[in-house]
Amino acid sequence: MPATLSTVSYVGATILFILSLGGLSNPETSRRGNLYGMIGMTIAVLATVFGPQVTSAGYAWIVGAMLVGAVSGIYASRIVRMTQMPELVALMHSLVGLAAVLIGFANYIDPAATATFQGPEKTIHELEIYIGVLIGAVTFSGSVIAFGKLSGKISGKPVLLPARHWINLAGLLAVIYFGGVFINTHSIADGMTPLVVMTVISLLFGIHMVMAIGGADMPVVISMLNSYSGWAAAATGFMLNNDLLIVTGALVGSSGAILSYIMCRAMNRNFISVIAGGFGTEGGAPAAKGAQPAGEVSPITAAETAELLRGSKNVIIVPGYGMAVAQAQHAVYEITKYLRDKGVNVRFGIHPVAGRMPGHMNVLLAEAKVPYDIVQEMDELNGDFPDTDVSMVIGANDIVNPSAQEDPNSPIAGMPVLEVWKAKTSIVMKRSMASGYAGVDNPLFYKDNNRMLFGDAKKMLDEVFVALKAA
Ligand code: TAP
Repeated sequence: MPATLSTVSYVGATILFILSLGGLSNPETSRRGNLYGMIGMTIAVLATVFGPQVTSAGYAWIVGAMLVGAVSGIYASRIVRMTQMPELVALMHSLVGLAAVLIGFANYIDPAATATFQGPEKTIHELEIYIGVLIGAVTFSGSVIAFGKLSGKISGKPVLLPARHWINLAGLLAVIYFGGVFINTHSIADGMTPLVVMTVISLLFGIHMVMAIGGADMPVVISMLNSYSGWAAAATGFMLNNDLLIVTGALVGSSGAILSYIMCRAMNRNFISVIAGGFGTEGGAPAAKGAQPAGEVSPITAAETAELLRGSKNVIIVPGYGMAVAQAQHAVYEITKYLRDKGVNVRFGIHPVAGRMPGHMNVLLAEAKVPYDIVQEMDELNGDFPDTDVSMVIGANDIVNPSAQEDPNSPIAGMPVLEVWKAKTSIVMKRSMASGYAGVDNPLFYKDNNRMLFGDAKKMLDEVFVALKAA
């Protein structure tokens, strides 16, 4: 492929990626956004493979690698459940980080690349390698730990080392020092030592950073690692002198950074404190997984729930992670449709960190064809609970926990929550008294106007629907 065609293809792919991000910002246009992204990526891959930087001797390697990648990708996407998506995403971020590290080392020891650069160009090239490997290593180890925490293989409890801020500072100073040593070396053999030392420090920093994050702050870390993976890709683009990779990496990096900022605001967290780790645990007890229930609860049956819903004018449904586990979104839709046909005003309240990934609930509700206009953000309807007859919590826990407002010592203190307890009656649908992701007990369950509908969300909603129709 001639260089000009390759450049035109890169520009086309870049435009498609921007259109894709624009489309993904709204559920109604998200399918189109995905399509743009897929077409853009196909053009990008073809333009790179057939571009001027690849010689025919490399085709066998590329085809082999693409086959391995495609088979693993198809296999993973077929077996992974919706509730495991965040883990898969974390794993994929780790691969981007690993690629940046490996390409950095390969680029450094490549005699052709080394011979091309002299003087200031050589310094810039080495800086690109050093920074690329640094970001890649932090992204890799941080994402592997995030995968462990999300999949429950590593405890969600924050691991807070004594003097952890000093450890981070010492790591940063060491990385800067070895950067100076690296750039001033005159041979690849001499430069290898500072490069390897920095890689080890960065890997340890990534582990330390994510291990120190408390359960409820994980969403911020996931979006932050998403951003890092973008910057790692951009750094790889600099190393390989590939403009499209730089632009694509910058798009992912900056959109991930914006998402992290939005997440921080939603959680009422300070970005720097989250990165430094242990935020929200200093004043009180760290999140204890499976905190013991404290108090008496009032159970309710599916038939009684149907009775309450039938007598309501305003209903707000708050879905959480349990709805995803139970795959109850279609049952929720049936009940919503039935109630709306009977003139009940039904709306959905979506917390920014409900479920296990950004937009998790929106995706599930869209899949079940719940109309977008009744799906509202927490801020839009939080003031409406006092005028609500029934608030129905489906498999949610942390996002409706009043202790975030009432108990300054709670690990989730300060996190905004949906104030479901202000409705005339709140009904919480879950299987047991178990705590949510943050591992804190929920005083909502013991409030006088709260009822517990125990059982699998899908099963209970089906029973409620049958009871609704039977009346
Ligand atoms: P959680 O607080 O995790 O609560 C979910 C509840 O669903 C659990 O208490 C569980 O109780 C119940 N449940 C599980 N399976 C169920 C089933 N089959 N049927 C009915 N109920 C079921 O979820 P949430 O309220 O959505 O809050 C999200 C939490 O995850 C926050 O702490 C957030 O910080 C964290 N987090 C979010 C993200 C993103 S980006 N959204 C990423 C990582 C972490 P039972 O076991 O008793 O049924």
